[in-house]
Amino acid sequence: MQATHRPVISATGLFTPEDSISNEELVASFNTFVRQHNAANAEAIEAGEVQALEESSVEFIEKASGIKARHVMAKAPVLDPAIMAPRWAERGNDELSVLAEIGVKAARDALARAGRGAADVDAVLCAASNMERPYPAMAIEIQQELGIDGFGFDMNVACSSATFGIQTAADYIRSGNARSVLVVSPEITSGHLNWRDRDSHFIFGDVATAVLVEDAGMAPARHWDILGTKLKTVFSNNIRNNFGFLNRAYPDNAGTADKLFVQEGRKVFKEVVPMVAQMIMEEADRLNIEPTSLRRMWLHQANAGMNRLIAHKVLGHEASEDESPTVLDTYGNTSSAGSIIAFHLHSEDLSAGDTGLICSFGAGYSAGTVFVRKAA
Ligand code: COA
Repeated sequence: MQATHRPVISATGLFTPEDSISNEELVASFNTFVRQHNAANAEAIEAGEVQALEESSVEFIEKASGIKARHVMAKAPVLDPAIMAPRWAERGNDELSVLAEIGVKAARDALARAGRGAADVDAVLCAASNMERPYPAMAIEIQQELGIDGFGFDMNVACSSATFGIQTAADYIRSGNARSVLVVSPEITSGHLNWRDRDSHFIFGDVATAVLVEDAGMAPARHWDILGTKLKTVFSNNIRNNFGFLNRAYPDNAGTADKLFVQEGRKVFKEVVPMVAQMIMEEADRLNIEPTSLRRMWLHQANAGMNRLIAHKVLGHEASEDESPTVLDTYGNTSSAGSIIAFHLHSEDLSAGDTGLICSFGAGYSAGTVFVRKAA
């Protein structure tokens, strides 16, 4: 009986927007904005009424974060110093939403890789940081577009949304309530990033991922066994976004910065690294997995330094790119999608029996671990 209710990862899918912004392009646009702002406010700055803005630098960004470029859904308006936000033509209610569109692309990729049709899938979880609207759920729109007969709902645990989604999907399978669940993470992070904030303007990028979690009984031969999942949340204000119906100021870059992403980056770094390392060690212990035996760790992609420290604590030595691959250089921080992109792009080469860890962490604070073993 137990064997028929064992969750595995059958396949993953990825959608990468065509447009990419290099650090050089980003900093050129940001510094133009800074110079224009300072020139327009020269008198007030001189009088001490307005603070002069400081320029950004490519060297700082790369050294502090490891990010060299990020993909975006709308490059021109993001780089236009007069806009510095994503913009596209508003879509009618009879058209597919932008978030659903990219989620569907990632989902179709995962389904094709598993050799799976929509008729086999029972549920869609849209697990992401920023939904396009509150209702109807993005997941239900994705479900409809794919032609899935079942149910769907949205869930948001910020950067940990995908691993929380995987555990939720795994629990449906463990309980027998579903046999095949799509966890879709469309992350248009460019909408909640304040591109005019020097401290964080370089952090995020857009992408969509999908993870097909299924009962081992129906999974394709090539799959990943889920050995265990663990979730943790600890409240913190150090990463916060106050946008919402009850906070009425609109995020139009006009002095409403807290309606976009804000963080105390240093504190996040210091507090999250030990929390996540300890969580991984405890979960490995519970699952009787020797941490040093982990073949690969697909960590949340927020900052190269954070990943270096976490991987070092877990493996007991400086992790190589092979042991802890990063996709930060080309994707930036893609919120919940980061660890899934790393897994998607860097797991084919592993052998049957190899054990690895998908791990996310972020706002909340929140963290999730998914220990996996390659079956074939
Ligand atoms: N260009 C040039 N200099 C910059 C800059 C920029 N864009 N942004 C900040 N600086 C300067 C600061 O003014 C500061 O100067 P000072 O030392 O003279 O005061 C210096 O660089 C260090 O700034 P700080 O903000 O302390 O940088 P940091 O080394 O902590 O790196 C983060 C910033 C955000 C990259 C880093 O804290 C981080 O990655 N934290 C993890 C949190 C995270 O990734 N969260 C994402 C959500 S999961």
